[in-house]
Amino acid sequence: LGGPCLFLADDVGWGGGRESIEVFARVLSSYVDVIVVRAKAHTSVQDLARYSKVPVINGLTDHSHPCQALADLLTIEERFGTLEGQTVAFIGDANNVARSLAVGCAKLGVDFAIAGPKGYQFEPEFWERLRKEPDARQLLATEDPAEAVRGATAVYTDVWASMGQEAEQAERQRIFAPYQGDGRLMAKANPEAIFLHCLPAHRGEEVSADVMDGPQSLVIEQAENRLHAQKGLLSWLLVRALAGSSDRGSSHGTHRNHSHTKKENSPGDLPGCFGFLGSRLRSVEQLADTVHEERSDREVQGFFHRAVTEQNR
Ligand code: NVA
Repeated sequence: LGGPCLFLADDVGWGGGRESIEVFARVLSSYVDVIVVRAKAHTSVQDLARYSKVPVINGLTDHSHPCQALADLLTIEERFGTLEGQTVAFIGDANNVARSLAVGCAKLGVDFAIAGPKGYQFEPEFWERLRKEPDARQLLATEDPAEAVRGATAVYTDVWASMGQEAEQAERQRIFAPYQGDGRLMAKANPEAIFLHCLPAHRGEEVSADVMDGPQSLVIEQAENRLHAQKGLLSWLLVRALAGSSDRGSSHGTHRNHSHTKKENSPGDLPGCFGFLGSRLRSVEQLADTVHEERSDREVQGFFHRAVTEQNR
């Protein structure tokens, strides 16, 4: 998108007792237009967002991984041409990746099934929340992987021990052994089904090597889509900011909103906070089109509106 980026490692800012979260968030958000945080504890992202003046994107926490879900759904849409009628089956731990995928599916009207052992499934309150999503379709929790993949057009796995669960690795390997995404399981899904994984993958654990590297696997395309999805997300947030707070919460696509935003932001009329884009992009319209020019077939922008909102709640 042409903007500069600051990378702050974990030795900077809050968390070490050097600076309060409030002061850190208020100062950082006066330097930048968007903050992306990859944090171990989800509360770190929530705390930062509470005090930040600019949008805070959850780049991965122990609770959820919404950016990954955007790329996942984009990959599914890209393969099948539509999300309508698709079914995602997640096999394994009801972890951060699974949680956001479930939210994304419920928001975008995609059937979602998850298979995992007792004690490693989503809490009932989470299912209740998903069922309340206006576009939610079929949502299934089962201990049986075969039941979950029946009819699935996308089969998804992730590691059995996520961040912070390293000490449970051996125990989880034993408990999750029946939940490997292998050729036998893929054969029970829709014949057109794709295999997805957020990476890094453990071949021989949650996925067999033949599935991971086989013809149904779209894991590399999926990883590439992290780039396009996150570019779209950033662009969407920046354009929304440009369009003003009256546009917040609107379900209109940024791209479709051009006539609206153009009136308020004629070329050369970028607010000061977007000065860094000035030499490359002179209007809101151009900003939105940067994403479209590069991946015009992907409709990256309009895709996000329902998927992103409320992901951090
Ligand atoms: N569930 C994994 C996701 C990595 C992207 C973890 O938390 O380690």
